[in-house]
Amino acid sequence: MVAAMIHPRHDYEDRGQGQVFRFFDDLAAEQQDELTRQASNIDLDEVERLYQTLVKNPGAGNESLADELQPAEFVPLPENGGSEVLWKEAYETGEAALRAGRVAAFTVAGGQGTRLGFDGPKGTFPVTPVRNAALFQVFAEKIRAAEARYGKPMPWFIMTSVINHEPTVDFFERHGHFGLDPERVHFFSQGLMPAVDEDGKILLAEKGSIALSPDGHGGSLRALVRSGAIDRMEADGIDTISYFQVDNPLVRCLDPAFIGFHLLGNSEMSSKALPKAYPEEKVGVFCRDGDGRDVVIEYSDLPERLANERDAAGELRFRAGSIAIHIFDRDFVKRLGTGADPDAVLPFHRAHKKVPHVDESGNAVSPTDPNAWKFEMFVFDSLPFAKNPVIIETAREDDFSPVKNAEGNDSPQTCRDDQLRQYARWAKAAGLEVSVDAETGLPAVAFEVTPTFADTEDRFLEAVAALDSKPVIVDETVLDCPDEE
Ligand code: UTP
Repeated sequence: MVAAMIHPRHDYEDRGQGQVFRFFDDLAAEQQDELTRQASNIDLDEVERLYQTLVKNPGAGNESLADELQPAEFVPLPENGGSEVLWKEAYETGEAALRAGRVAAFTVAGGQGTRLGFDGPKGTFPVTPVRNAALFQVFAEKIRAAEARYGKPMPWFIMTSVINHEPTVDFFERHGHFGLDPERVHFFSQGLMPAVDEDGKILLAEKGSIALSPDGHGGSLRALVRSGAIDRMEADGIDTISYFQVDNPLVRCLDPAFIGFHLLGNSEMSSKALPKAYPEEKVGVFCRDGDGRDVVIEYSDLPERLANERDAAGELRFRAGSIAIHIFDRDFVKRLGTGADPDAVLPFHRAHKKVPHVDESGNAVSPTDPNAWKFEMFVFDSLPFAKNPVIIETAREDDFSPVKNAEGNDSPQTCRDDQLRQYARWAKAAGLEVSVDAETGLPAVAFEVTPTFADTEDRFLEAVAALDSKPVIVDETVLDCPDEE
């Protein structure tokens, strides 16, 4: 961030970015103030450095790095050879931390959700099969379920961006924060980065505003610090942050076993991995680099030969897929987020995008092909800086079904089906009458289990056992907590 002692216009002109103020003299005073404010918040050195290093002279690629890559180690699930005793110990450790009020939930919800194309913050998207509950509602109910179980209010931090901050806060207010204490739901906005054209010139979205976009989910670490969220956690005795994305309603927001593994391992950052379904699956892969550090290699950067390599058992050797579910140690976030440690700085990545802008004559341009570079940080890039990173395996059906695209893979339809399959599995396990298609795993009727009734299979079995009679499932049944009905 640059403190502007003089008007930033001069600085921009000196640095070859004078086009940002091209229409300045024609703007109303308010627009001039806004443009000046935006310009003052941009670190021109950083933008120039990113353009030079990522666009003009990008590195030679990862081929040499690839030679040194090994698969990262992870703790397998008990059903895949992990120790039952260890998983139990981790579960109990996590429960103790939840009971002690040491854990906060943290959702990154600052993305633009362009692929889904939904008009509104992604967290407000209706996602469940019967109630059409929004993603935010599902997480809120999971957090409330944990509060009821552990007898402690669980704080929830939500990162937005300027694009969706107000409608997000408004959505929570209109819905009474879904029964959560509003004092414990904290919103803050992430940082922004300007888009530059092929020559590194910062683009104007309009005559009086810069083409800015959120600085990536990796921006969450510095946003946690800059917003004061980390200080608040410290004041409230929270040292463990459970990180998840806004697009995945299956996620176990506050998973005791995961929290426990993180704490038992004295880890600064822990991650969940799931076995890749096939070599080309578009998830990053947990690897160990030549320096022995755990890293996530993006699917596009993992050489094909490694992506296809199989071990003696015939399984993909590099199979531990990253699904953006992490636990962070608070002080680790502080170290990275303040930028105090020069050896632990999140890198930026470039993305070639279509960015609408105004041209030099002031005409609006809506490009049909990528015309600009955006710069983003990725949260998983913090992994190599973490001491004692822990990676545990999870099962896809228990933790991961993101809504990314309007249709096809990872769409509202696949996510709805995955929720139905989960409910069907639980219902079967509890001996309830429900007809399930043997091939697809889908129930014959659409029904729903609210997170406050049960958010895991074990809880479901307990909740059903506690009822006077077995619930009857018909089309549109919603199994809900008695006090919610
Ligand atoms: P995605 O990478 O899926 O991006 O974000 P997106 O913006 O939601 O969707 P597309 O790519 O435009 O279609 C994964 C998670 O990271 C958050 C998103 O809100 C989502 O929870 N995110 C992403 C941020 O919080 N900030 C960002 O700058 C980018």
